[in-house]
Amino acid sequence: MRIFNASGCLDALAAPEVARQLDAFVTKTVTPEPREGSAPPRIAETAHGMLNAIGLANPGRERFLAEHLPRLRELGLPLWVSVGGFCAHDYAETCSQLTGIETIELNLSCPNVDEAADSAAEIVAACRRATDLPLYAKLSAAHPDVAEVARAVAAAGADGLSLVNTLRGVALDRQLRPVLARGSGGLSGPSLKPIALHAVGVCREATGLPIVGMGGIQTGRDALEFAACGARDVALGTVLFADPGAPTRVRAELVTACADAGVASTEDGKGPAKSPETERKVHA
Ligand SMILES: Cc1cc2nc3c(=O)[nH]c(=O)nc-3n(C[C@H](O)[C@H](O)[C@H](O)COP(=O)(O)O)c2cc1C
Repeated sequence: MRIFNASGCLDALAAPEVARQLDAFVTKTVTPEPREGSAPPRIAETAHGMLNAIGLANPGRERFLAEHLPRLRELGLPLWVSVGGFCAHDYAETCSQLTGIETIELNLSCPNVDEAADSAAEIVAACRRATDLPLYAKLSAAHPDVAEVARAVAAAGADGLSLVNTLRGVALDRQLRPVLARGSGGLSGPSLKPIALHAVGVCREATGLPIVGMGGIQTGRDALEFAACGARDVALGTVLFADPGAPTRVRAELVTACADAGVASTEDGKGPAKSPETERKVHA
């Protein structure tokens, strides 16, 4: 199992020592045009997790390719570039300009992007035509049937899945006004974990594609649970804000977690028999 950062949760140029603990670095989502992002406050901590309304702040494709990517290459880590946009053409155009990276992660949960299965498949198909690089489709669990979306993007040519993105939520202050200037934001952190584990299980069963699991991972045990549900790799997001040493710690904890669970490695606890969908059928 490899350990990555979740997109948008680590600035590798500002904190290279954190990035060097990872097996690959995943960039913040890059959009065709530069984006200032939403007005502050953009982060709200709640008792149930973190809400963010960063609004995909990023330098835009041109500056990313000319300035950021060359500096990221100097880190010497495999790079995953997260690509976003507002239509299939936006995504495909960025994909066609990317070379010399390990993987492209398509953030299919961008504002104004319809997360329905056919729209997601249209974006993946356009990107498939634009690049030979491996394409991972990043989905949120907001869709009522995430396995249907996973099947559609697999048929359109995705090589893997990144699961899951944040879910929309609201936090209110003492006077009952939204804490975030934009009103709502994406919920991340431990409360996402059960939802993410389910999404990983059903999508793995539906597609057989390799999966990067994420959503509330804080410990080695959490990472092992993602492997048990079918994730090949994991990504750390919100935990990095509180613990920049998390990648090294989680990697060390994985060894103990495997021993506690009675499995020899993260490969062992896996299998269709453990996937939630199979279990549902077995117990139906
Ligand atoms: C501050 C912040 C910014 C994020 N920015 C992005 C982004 O640019 N692209 C993306 O695909 N996901 C983004 N995400 C979602 C994370 O990559 C991840 O899917 C989500 O936070 C769940 O993992 P976690 O619970 O470990 O944080 C962001 C999350 C946070 C907290």
